[in-house]
Amino acid sequence: MTASVGGIRQRCIEALELKTGDTVVEFGCGPGINIVKLQEAIGPSGKAVGVDISANMLCRAKARADKHMNSCTELIQADATEPPVHSVDAVLATFVSSLFPDPYSVIKKWCDLADRVVIASFTPGSNTVANIGLAGFAQLNKRLFDLKQSNPLTQLQKRTEIAHQALKDHMSTTNQEAHLWGTIGIAAGKS
Ligand SMILES: C[S@@+](CC[C@H](N)C(=O)[O-])C[C@H]1O[C@@H](n2cnc3c(N)ncnc32)[C@H](O)[C@@H]1O
Repeated sequence: MTASVGGIRQRCIEALELKTGDTVVEFGCGPGINIVKLQEAIGPSGKAVGVDISANMLCRAKARADKHMNSCTELIQADATEPPVHSVDAVLATFVSSLFPDPYSVIKKWCDLADRVVIASFTPGSNTVANIGLAGFAQLNKRLFDLKQSNPLTQLQKRTEIAHQALKDHMSTTNQEAHLWGTIGIAAGKS
């Protein structure tokens, strides 16, 4: 995953409408690329929490943390489908929600935790070249898809739609944006 993904990460941070002193959690934080920007947005009085299921990813995030983050950054190894936090101001998840077999119930839990929830997801569509890239992503993560059901790209698309629907159903207002020729969608919800 490239660092900026065509400005998507910055756009997600803006959509979170973070204020100084906010607490924000990023589910599936991976190597911590967003966490640095989150901490910058909330300042030293705020708290950014990165959650990832992979110890290897958190090691990479920790290395980044040691360089760029401050003492208010916390990294937790946990399953984002069972959030290890109870109440925060905002939730971010980039390229994660479509990895869950049941994204609806997970997004609902995230909406219960926070006033603002922003998710960025792949949105397979009519762009053939982009779909080849997304098929590669689905293939790399194929253990997370049911290969007997349908092809991973179709499941990726369906899960993104379900995640967006969950946000609509559980937040008062939602906004959706399409980026990079419609291959990436950002959905933002406010309670
Ligand atoms: C495609 S990467 C995206 C990483 C990061 N959000 C980014 O945009 O660079 C997906 C991440 O989700 C994590 N992940 C997958 N399933 C998870 C789960 N159930 N709970 C927490 N993290 C999970 C993976 O370990 C991986 O770091």
